Amino acid sequence: ARRVRIHHLRELKERGEPWAMLTAYDMYTAAIFDNAGIPVLLVGDSASNNVYGYDTSLPVTVDELVPLVRAVTRSTKRALVVADLPFGSYQVSVSQAVETAVRFMKEGRAHAVKLEGGADFAPHVKALTTAGIPVMGHIGFTPQSEHNLGGYRVQGRGAAGDTLVADAVALQEAGAFSVVMEMVPAETAKKVTHELAIPTIGIGAGPDCDGQVLVWQDMAGLRTGKAPRFVKRYADLAGVLTDAVKQFAAEVQGREFPAPEHTFH
Ligand code: KIV
Ligand code: NA
Repeated sequence: ARRVRIHHLRELKERGEPWAMLTAYDMYTAAIFDNAGIPVLLVGDSASNNVYGYDTSLPVTVDELVPLVRAVTRSTKRALVVADLPFGSYQVSVSQAVETAVRFMKEGRAHAVKLEGGADFAPHVKALTTAGIPVMGHIGFTPQSEHNLGGYRVQGRGAAGDTLVADAVALQEAGAFSVVMEMVPAETAKKVTHELAIPTIGIGAGPDCDGQVLVWQDMAGLRTGKAPRFVKRYADLAGVLTDAVKQFAAEVQGREFPAPEHTFH
């Protein structure tokens, strides 16, 4: 299978065909999603609170994310693999952004990077694309700015909608190949999607984006408990796994496992 390229995503937009993106952080899930035909996989900084056990996306480091990116690119044949630049690894300066992104491309073998921010980050996006690194933008609710935004809340309501459109346009003009919009009103997301030639990818941004992304542990029900409104659970992996490990433990305790067919003599 040929590797998905950024121009393929543009073609899907021109044809009006929406597509799905998922996060991935390891070998089996990446291979499963790749074989299922998911065209874009994001090694999100959401690994912070979905792999490493931190409570938010802020603590995770480049050193922690690079090996996950490498695992995902090693385990896929077709998907375009995007590496998320974590908090603190690109905000300091344009040159810091380039240095961090180069690590993800060289060591992680990523095909693109993603960073959070609007027009203020246009210089970073421009420098990265000039360096040959495709950039996915991320606007609306940006989890790395959680404390500055006052918690998880919808962005771009009312007059802020115009700022959101301007941010999206600035990212496109700086050379971004796509833009994630997180927790923005559907009407605003629709407007941005029509305004831009590059694809938009929504998460809590309504049905009119060119693509939709979810954190895989959320959509597959590995994570339990209260989920944000924009999450749909397509499976109950936590339930399946709980039943399996309980049965294993019970069979060990009952001396049912291992049976003769699992035993060498
Ligand atoms: O880190 C992440 O998982 C993300 C997606 C939700 C877009 O940034
Ligand atoms: Na992220």
